[in-house]
Amino acid sequence: MDQDQLKRSAAQAALDYIAPKLDGSSVVGVGTGSTTNHFIDLLAGIKHTFNATVSSSEASAERLRGHGIAVLDLNAVDGVAVYVDGADEVNGARQLIKGGGGALTREKIVAASADEFVCIVDASKRVEVLGDYPLPVEVIPMARGLVAREIRELGGHPELRQDFVTDNGNVILDVHGLKIFDPTELERTLNNIVGVVCNGVFAAQAADLVFIAAAGGVETL
Ligand code: 5RP
Repeated sequence: MDQDQLKRSAAQAALDYIAPKLDGSSVVGVGTGSTTNHFIDLLAGIKHTFNATVSSSEASAERLRGHGIAVLDLNAVDGVAVYVDGADEVNGARQLIKGGGGALTREKIVAASADEFVCIVDASKRVEVLGDYPLPVEVIPMARGLVAREIRELGGHPELRQDFVTDNGNVILDVHGLKIFDPTELERTLNNIVGVVCNGVFAAQAADLVFIAAAGGVETL
């Protein structure tokens, strides 16, 4: 199985898991990225079994609408039953690095709104210690120099993501060189830097469940 087939297997596992929990009033939170795109395509097959979705990005919203699935503003819904999204890295505590697609802020907001956060990855994303993947940090544009200096003080090497503006009109610093032994502490520290909108460590609120697709099958973490 190639990596794309593994991503689809993880997405299928998530669909099988959430389908029995949905009813006509359910709102499904939908993430961003190539693994989530498989989930969106599969979700289309059960679109008559739930009410609507909320999306973490314009790109996913467009794909959902393309399938005839309703996409609502998060402020227009009372709650989100489940949020399904991919990740760039996953550790054994279901803590994540996310934001490779630059949608981390909306992803964290929708994840925080959901009763349950289901993460879907192929086995290449599983790590012992987070940090080999450059950590995305969304920053208010005028603060990027200030934030970059503060991150260097923490031992990271920030790089401005070129030719990229988030759905919120901000920039992304991708931080290299961090070995994240205490994800909760780093998440909090980065959030406290003035000018940081959000960072891609999902630790304070980790995933509730992770489906990891490998050649031998899908493991549940
Ligand atoms: C987007 C994300 C994605 O979930 C993450 O980058 C994984 O993407 P993919 O499923 O394409 O490997 O956090 O901001």
